[in-house]
Amino acid sequence: MRTQIQRRILLWRALWLLCFAVLWRDSEAQLRYTIPEELKEGSVVGNVAKDLGLDVSEISNRKVRIASESGKQYFSLNLRNGELLVNEVIDRETLCGQSGSCVLPVQVIIEDPLQFYRVEVAIQDINDNSPIFLSEINTIEVPELTLIGARFRLEPAQDPDAGTNSVRTYALNKNEHFAMFMNIKTDKDGTKVPEIVLEKAVDREKQSVHHLILTGIDGGDPARSGTMQISVKIVDANDNAPVFERELYEVKVMESTVPGTMILPVKAIDLDDGVNGEAEYSFAAHTPGIIKNLFAINPVTGELVVSKHLDYETSSSYKIDIRARDKGSFAMEGHCTIQVTVLDVNDNAPEIIITSSPKPVREDAPAGTMVALINVKDLDSSVNGNVTLSMSQGTPFKLKPTFSNHYALVTDSQLDREEFPRYDIELKASDSGSPPLISSKLITVSILDVNDNPPVFSERVYLVYIKENTAPGSILSSVTASDRDTGENAKLVYSVIDTNTQGVPVSSYVYINSENGSIFSMHSFDYEKMKVFHIIVIAKDHGSPSLSSNATVHVFISDRNDNAPAVIYPSYGRGED
Ligand SMILES: *[C@@H]1O[C@H](CO)[C@@H](O)[C@H](O)[C@H]1NC(C)=O
Ligand SMILES: *[C@@H]1O[C@H](CO)[C@@H](O)[C@H](O)[C@H]1NC(C)=O
Repeated sequence: MRTQIQRRILLWRALWLLCFAVLWRDSEAQLRYTIPEELKEGSVVGNVAKDLGLDVSEISNRKVRIASESGKQYFSLNLRNGELLVNEVIDRETLCGQSGSCVLPVQVIIEDPLQFYRVEVAIQDINDNSPIFLSEINTIEVPELTLIGARFRLEPAQDPDAGTNSVRTYALNKNEHFAMFMNIKTDKDGTKVPEIVLEKAVDREKQSVHHLILTGIDGGDPARSGTMQISVKIVDANDNAPVFERELYEVKVMESTVPGTMILPVKAIDLDDGVNGEAEYSFAAHTPGIIKNLFAINPVTGELVVSKHLDYETSSSYKIDIRARDKGSFAMEGHCTIQVTVLDVNDNAPEIIITSSPKPVREDAPAGTMVALINVKDLDSSVNGNVTLSMSQGTPFKLKPTFSNHYALVTDSQLDREEFPRYDIELKASDSGSPPLISSKLITVSILDVNDNPPVFSERVYLVYIKENTAPGSILSSVTASDRDTGENAKLVYSVIDTNTQGVPVSSYVYINSENGSIFSMHSFDYEKMKVFHIIVIAKDHGSPSLSSNATVHVFISDRNDNAPAVIYPSYGRGED
């Protein structure tokens, strides 16, 4: 091991001597040294005296000294041993920048006799600088839909060191989307330009900014590095359609809703940025005119507004398709449906329909006889359309429900035309809304006469007094009967029952006017023969069957002085018979 190191040292020395000889011959300079930069003050560069073949004593005797060509004294000469020393720490980069060679010329002046020697000190670069980036953060913009493989140039790092000590390569922190482009490009001026390449597609909606760290690494040993943050901003592409929060919205609205009322806001989310993410709401293309007429959608807020009066009875529900469309240059759209249910409000009064008009009813109709058929209806729904029908109290009628909303008006008890020849019945329909709506209708029922009343004489018994010898044909009496029935049932015919008085039929004494009940004599009567007789009068109506009744007329004949006095019997006893 040791021998190997020693051998290597020997080899280096031999190489150095060879190199020295070459330089000596080719360059203008007599001596050339090479030192690394940044040596400490007082470090030995080389022994000038010895290398120029001067004796140590000659240094002071011949007044050897050095002079700088640049004016600045980087070196000094040890006058005791002739060594050239570093006078000041030398920074190669300050002195020579990044140029490949950096040489400091030194003049050696010997006075006695005067001689000039030129010594060159080459300053060798050491890796004393790290690559640095001019900005701490480099922001680049990457469009969202950029294809994989696309490259993005980044700001190069600076390293003042020369040659291999300068920036050699770049590294990128491990991340999902980007990698360093392997072939690092070298600009005309030799600067290595870092480029990153897109390896996996970026999605702004998932992550809008990616933070990367770029490291510039130099070729020194050990290598030095510098870092820079890279902020990759993903520029939005319109790759997302607006999406409604719900596919189906359901809303209930009273039919009485005032036009202009907002009934529901819908909302679509568009993940894109800026105009690409600004949704504008409208009715879908196929929306029928009736919906556009009744409703309006606010394009900005997505609020659905009732614009006209709704009518439950016309339509109780609407299906409205809404479109949200973004403002990107290639606009994208999303759709949703709003199901509007119109709720009934009690805005329709019930209606009474007489399906079968009332027929006149016979007064002897049994209870339960149908008089009229009635139907009620209400355009409203549920309780608002639930109708009850009632009628005025105190009539011999009732409503009998038949089937849903149909009623029959029937008699409920015995009728009597003579008491109530007609009834005005008020029907009242009321729905169950709150407040209820009511409507009414008047129907008239007339009662038909039945021959249920016999004629009634004004008197049960009539007493008539006539004088004897009255001329035949004169009116003995007039009887009258009345009948509470009507029409034919009340039309009376008078007649006389043919009874015998003293063996003579009464019809031979009197006759009756069948129409007005006047009884006429057909004889003159003789008090002396007959003092009294009876007539039974019958009044009979035209009903079918007809009814009749009778009355008795007692006819008393009074005496006149028509005979010369002749006493035969005391007359009173017979007169009372
Ligand atoms: C009844 O009719 C007859 C004949 O028309 C008439 O003479 C008589 O006066 C009438 N009686 C009454 C009470 O009107
Ligand atoms: C007269 O009327 C009475 C009672 O209404 C009845 O009993 C009688 O039979 C009637 N007489 C005749 C002759 O019709």
